[in-house]
Amino acid sequence: MSGYKDEEDIKRDAEKMVEVQDLWFSYNKEKWALKGINMELIRGEKTVLLGSNGSGKTTLLLHLNGILIPDKGRIKVSGNYLSYTKKALTEVRKRVGIVFQNPDDQIVAPIVFQDVALGPVNLRLSDGEVKNRVKRALNELNIEELSDRKAHELSEGEKKKVAIAGVLAMEPEILVLDEPTSGLDPQSSEDLITIIDSMYKQNDNMAVLVATHNVELAYEWADRVIVLSEGEIVKSGKPYEVLGDEKVIKSGRLAMPRVLRIYKGIEMAACENPGVPPRSVEELLKVMKGNLRQ
Ligand SMILES: Nc1ncnc2c1ncn2[C@@H]1O[C@H](COP(=O)(O)OP(=O)(O)OP(=O)(O)O)[C@@H](O)[C@H]1O
Ligand SMILES: [Mg+2]
Repeated sequence: MSGYKDEEDIKRDAEKMVEVQDLWFSYNKEKWALKGINMELIRGEKTVLLGSNGSGKTTLLLHLNGILIPDKGRIKVSGNYLSYTKKALTEVRKRVGIVFQNPDDQIVAPIVFQDVALGPVNLRLSDGEVKNRVKRALNELNIEELSDRKAHELSEGEKKKVAIAGVLAMEPEILVLDEPTSGLDPQSSEDLITIIDSMYKQNDNMAVLVATHNVELAYEWADRVIVLSEGEIVKSGKPYEVLGDEKVIKSGRLAMPRVLRIYKGIEMAACENPGVPPRSVEELLKVMKGNLRQ
């Protein structure tokens, strides 16, 4: 084997927006929260990070814009290794937008409009552009009516939407969301996914990472799924490769997505040429109808 990279490797290198290299981190020097994480976010890809409570998802995310500093290992964003000077951190935080798990950690201004405007103001955009960005973000999340409300008086779900709007208003290249749908009603969760998808359509220079417990969302929506357990990656790959693997489901303390569970049952009972498994209820119904006609 030659030491040269082939064309595929070169293309993949060019498309890496984030590279985490052998990342180790401990909060207290007694126990590792992350143990040798290697991970990439690729331009145009939606990556979902799954793992049980305490597996290290939030800890990993907080490294991506330099909020936490690795004990060992390095992180590359858009081709440059992270450095932790004030100037470098300001720059990286323009590129990497993180929506925190707890909206109270994100919301700082007293009034919703002011809070969502903070990011765009820090980007030194004109007043007009700041207003446009805030209005657009509030409108996308369907919360224009919250614009003049006091942030601390909002419901949990409303706060979550305001926190998300604040990050969307910065239009980051790398969008990182920690449990974005927790606390949101089903329609709002679906709307949020639609918003992220439409951001992708408008801008192909983006990568998204979502940490969640929602295996159904990961299976149906992600391009790539990563499962974390006790600070280590158990498996990473296409949704079916990862979530169709019983061992991964068990060690990640996950549940197999319902569509996949039903499909596996049908596949065993009826399907001679299984092919690619369906990813949504609609696709599953198509497979079932096809089999009934045979
Ligand atoms: N500020 C902190 N100080 C000390 N230990 C912490 C701190 N934050 C997290 N930990 C520990 O680090 C480990 C990873 O926690 P982390 O919050 O990254 O998990 P998580 O996968 O995001 O969990 P969840 O699904 O509950 O959000 C856990 O053992 C947790 O107790
Ligand atoms: Mg967490």
